[in-house]
Amino acid sequence: MNVFGAVHLGYLVIETQKFTDWHRFGRDAIGMHADEPDSGTMRFRLDENDCRFLLRWGPAEDVTTLGWQIDDHETFDHILNRVADRGVPLREASAEEAALRGVERLWRFPGPKGLTQEIFTNPLRSGRPLSMRATGFVTGEAGMGHVALTTTRPEQLRGYYNTVFDARLSDYIDETISGMKLKIRFLRVNQRHHSIALAATRGLRLDPIRTRVQHLNIQVAGLDDLTQSYQRVQELGFGMALSVGQHTNDRELSYYARTPSGFEFEVGWNPIVVDETTWKPTTHQGISIWGHTPVGQTILDKLTQFARAARSLREREDTVPALAEDGIPDD
Ligand SMILES: [Fe+2]
Repeated sequence: MNVFGAVHLGYLVIETQKFTDWHRFGRDAIGMHADEPDSGTMRFRLDENDCRFLLRWGPAEDVTTLGWQIDDHETFDHILNRVADRGVPLREASAEEAALRGVERLWRFPGPKGLTQEIFTNPLRSGRPLSMRATGFVTGEAGMGHVALTTTRPEQLRGYYNTVFDARLSDYIDETISGMKLKIRFLRVNQRHHSIALAATRGLRLDPIRTRVQHLNIQVAGLDDLTQSYQRVQELGFGMALSVGQHTNDRELSYYARTPSGFEFEVGWNPIVVDETTWKPTTHQGISIWGHTPVGQTILDKLTQFARAARSLREREDTVPALAEDGIPDD
């Protein structure tokens, strides 16, 4: 059985202590619908689903969990068996945990870099009207967007997502950022060009990023949503990481804002949709056709990144080896 196409990025869990800033960022700047079910919880919606971002109170200031929607129970059971057969611990979440995420049938198991992976079948849609500044977001078959991770072990991470979700390689990008040569691998699990991007330094394997997730991405419905949210991010005083630009591989027009937790939040518009009958992986030079200019990075920011990268040489990144197998080398 191949589960490709039946898997969709459904929600993300973020651990933070900056609820007030996140509320302004998510609702007032980006333009999402905000709910606060209780004092230790905030949620953002993008569409009819009750939850696309779950914010829990805690010190990590990071994405802690990726939630994946699975189309049917048969596929769901098949994925659970893949994980269980390899001796990786998996656990059914409590009814309370499922309710917080607005989903039914929720299980979890460990993922690379300490990112918990959760799978669920049905999202809850309680039908409450949306109140948001954006006109809409593109989700559906393509899922809610994507996440990008930096990794020192890209072959193992490809192996992991291949084993668990039958992920396919869309393409590569070679890029130099802050003097570091990077190779980025783009993986898809459905028609969205990528739900996971894996960035690794070439040569000496370094990880310059503190957080598990370097950036996440959501897709706005209209070009006006992109330009107006860009203006609001600036007017409300949130940091911009990369100005508006267009990507080489999926052709998405986007900008990258800095979240209150420190990782980046990419807002994109109009990426291509992959046609499985004709798609062929290639390598692009550079992440952008134009734009995506770094904004306001200080010397201190750069030094902090180098210090973090140097520290990563001494750490061994967790890959859940039982699911990564021997890893998948580049084509
Ligand atoms: Fe991205």
